[in-house]
Amino acid sequence: MIAPVYSAYPERYESMDYRRCGRSGIQLPLLSLGLWHNFGSHKPFEEVKAMACRAFDSGICHFDLANNYGPEYGTAEENFGHLMSSVFKPYRDELFISSKAGWDMWPGPYGNWGSRKYLMASLDQSLKRMNIDYVDIFYSHRYDPATPVEETMQALVDIVRQGKALYVGLSRYPKEQAAKAYKYLAEHDVPCLLYQDRYNIIDRRPQDQGLIDLSYGEGVGFISFSPLQQGLLTGRYLNGIPSDSRMARNTSLKPEVLTPELLEALRRLNDMALRRGQSLAQMSLSWLLSDPRVTSVIIGASSVAQIDDDLKALDNRYFSEEEIFEIDSLFAGKDFGV
Ligand SMILES: NC(=O)c1ccc[n+]([C@@H]2O[C@H](COP(=O)([O-])OP(=O)(O)OC[C@H]3O[C@@H](n4cnc5c(N)ncnc54)[C@H](OP(=O)(O)O)[C@@H]3O)[C@@H](O)[C@H]2O)c1
Repeated sequence: MIAPVYSAYPERYESMDYRRCGRSGIQLPLLSLGLWHNFGSHKPFEEVKAMACRAFDSGICHFDLANNYGPEYGTAEENFGHLMSSVFKPYRDELFISSKAGWDMWPGPYGNWGSRKYLMASLDQSLKRMNIDYVDIFYSHRYDPATPVEETMQALVDIVRQGKALYVGLSRYPKEQAAKAYKYLAEHDVPCLLYQDRYNIIDRRPQDQGLIDLSYGEGVGFISFSPLQQGLLTGRYLNGIPSDSRMARNTSLKPEVLTPELLEALRRLNDMALRRGQSLAQMSLSWLLSDPRVTSVIIGASSVAQIDDDLKALDNRYFSEEEIFEIDSLFAGKDFGV
């Protein structure tokens, strides 16, 4: 008998909606939580725990990880492992946990890209760090032009056969290679569950390049990452760069992207959000969720308050034609260099 140190909120599934993931048995919460930033070794574990527990208490049962999330590669998975062995242990079957490999993780030729050797070894390491026996979904984190796509896909198939992942997914594949990979996986009885890409009001590449349509047509779910464009699509930068923000850290979000043109468009978007009775973050998430082809969006957060704010996006997911036109006139077909 496990003595629970945390007891999940009994009504956690009441306030969240769940959407079917492509043609599969899986439903995902409309909001999922990503551990790319703010969950690694630089963050006190109590804060990591508070954010993860608030998410789960709110019906967010999908946690998105990768081998190199931190910062300090691997430390987001290590912290998640601490969560699994403490607070989340009784809830493993209620959780949908992902990991990925495809970006740089360790030195040498076997710690990057899409070889069978890298994917197999990386997942073994991730499972150890996270204190779990299997992940619910394992992704090829990016397309590797130098490795035959068949090798990468066969590694995913075999990972499922070994029981180390229940489902597989792809992230950031070009359309043609995604189509080839979907076919390979389906022919080997391990259909791709999810395609993951950056998609938000500012960056519409997966829509413009037909990846959302392709995935939908093939029965593969679509999950958006960086739905708030790393914080640009929130109130965070409307009046300068806060010292505790991602942009102030100047790693994955550079201050140069905040041009006067982008700032002006964001301010107009913010005015519109206020007219709708939403924060800019909420409206940006609602915009994504108004498309039924989007299975879920993976939010990032640096505080419990941000998760609470983002959750309210679920309350108003309707956009009038005029509102869609206004958003498109500010952002569609424009390259803000993000
Ligand atoms: N497959 C891939 O290649 C890939 C790549 C990138 C990300 N991802 C996944 O997607 C997840 C989300 O990415 P992301 O962190 O870039 O997502 P995001 O939701 O676009 O940005 C999250 C950041 O926005 C700010 N924020 C969030 N809610 C806010 C609110 N209500 N008010 C004000 N600011 C708010 C916070 O910035 P501050 O930290 O400044 O407070 C937060 O850290 C990652 O954790 C990862 O799981 C996948």
